[in-house]
Amino acid sequence: MKVGVIGGGQLGRMLALAGTPLGMQFTFLDPAADACAAALGEHLHADYSSPEHLQQLAQSVDLVTFEFESVPAETVAYLEQFVPVYPSAQALRIARDRWFEKSMFKDLGIPTTEFADVLSQADLDAAVAQIGLPAVLKTRTLGYDGKGQKVLREPADVVDAFAYLGNVPCILEGFVAFSGEVSLVAVRGRDGEVCCYPLVHNVHHEGILHLSLASDQHPLQALAQDYAQRVLNELEYVGVLAFEFFEVDGGLKANEIAPRVHNSGHWTIEGAQCSQFENHLRAVAGLPLGSVEKVGHSGMLNFIGSIPATADVLAVADCHLHDYSKAFKPGRKVGHVTVRSESEAQLKQQIAALEALLSS
Ligand SMILES: Nc1ncnc2c1ncn2[C@@H]1O[C@H](COP(=O)(O)OP(=O)(O)O)[C@@H](O)[C@H]1O
Ligand SMILES: [Mg+2]
Repeated sequence: MKVGVIGGGQLGRMLALAGTPLGMQFTFLDPAADACAAALGEHLHADYSSPEHLQQLAQSVDLVTFEFESVPAETVAYLEQFVPVYPSAQALRIARDRWFEKSMFKDLGIPTTEFADVLSQADLDAAVAQIGLPAVLKTRTLGYDGKGQKVLREPADVVDAFAYLGNVPCILEGFVAFSGEVSLVAVRGRDGEVCCYPLVHNVHHEGILHLSLASDQHPLQALAQDYAQRVLNELEYVGVLAFEFFEVDGGLKANEIAPRVHNSGHWTIEGAQCSQFENHLRAVAGLPLGSVEKVGHSGMLNFIGSIPATADVLAVADCHLHDYSKAFKPGRKVGHVTVRSESEAQLKQQIAALEALLSS
């Protein structure tokens, strides 16, 4: 089976690493000359909205999927005329826009923080009067890793905040004083079967994911799965969908969804029976889904900007390094490591040893 992937970053690379043993072949559409997935398949080096290259992609593959949500929805809608695309253009249209996704949460009875649409500085002033401070102003589209957002703590922060984010459509969200952040990676097959991995506890540094820990029978697992199921059914979703939640007062508030494999699911490569990458491919290809059971205890640590010496990382017990072969740059995700253990206490020690490498 030939799979076309919109985007050729590390997520595309890990999709190919999971799909190659299943006999799949990959073509990545990515305008970046140094797209790191290119080592694992064919690279269509072109813009996402070039009709000529979209045609070329559609004609050379059996289906198309994507590895990031900032693909123009028109690109996917165009491709859908010629080749099956999973998830659908409609799912992408909603998941890539914070206003649409939060409105969907509200319609489906999924708790989320108070929010308002902001199309001008005047709208922002009115939204702040309604929601109060602190609050977070976010661009509706294209934000990632904490980019495209500004925390507003006092009235002086509100002045010019709309211009600061580039005078583009935004939403204002009430600031959530959360006790923790968790995510749920779910997968839905073409036949509607749904499987969910164990909830993952996430720690962010400066808006970028730092550490993910797979939980053991989290008390909020059933609630998270109920919310996920509502969204998956609403969107008639096919593939992996990740949900980010805030833990508040023993319950959950939905933060955002990502219509793709997700950084907080990277631990599943070594930490679960079947990884999120393989399950995404199984789902879009109409194959039976694999087991989402975890194997022992595991966590994932991101390498941002640079990667410590390989030998130092591998000296830590049961560590699995993923170097994306990307140029080192501050703030850029360049690799991660999955660490596994028989016991939670031991896992903590292994993670502490890895964190020491980051600060050395
Ligand atoms: N409304 C909010 N209240 C408090 N913290 C927030 C809020 N929104 C985002 N954050 C913090 O910023 C991080 C990144 O924001 P998020 O909306 O998930 O954007 P991104 O697309 O960059 O992941 C979140 O994981 C959380 O730590
Ligand atoms: Mg997020």
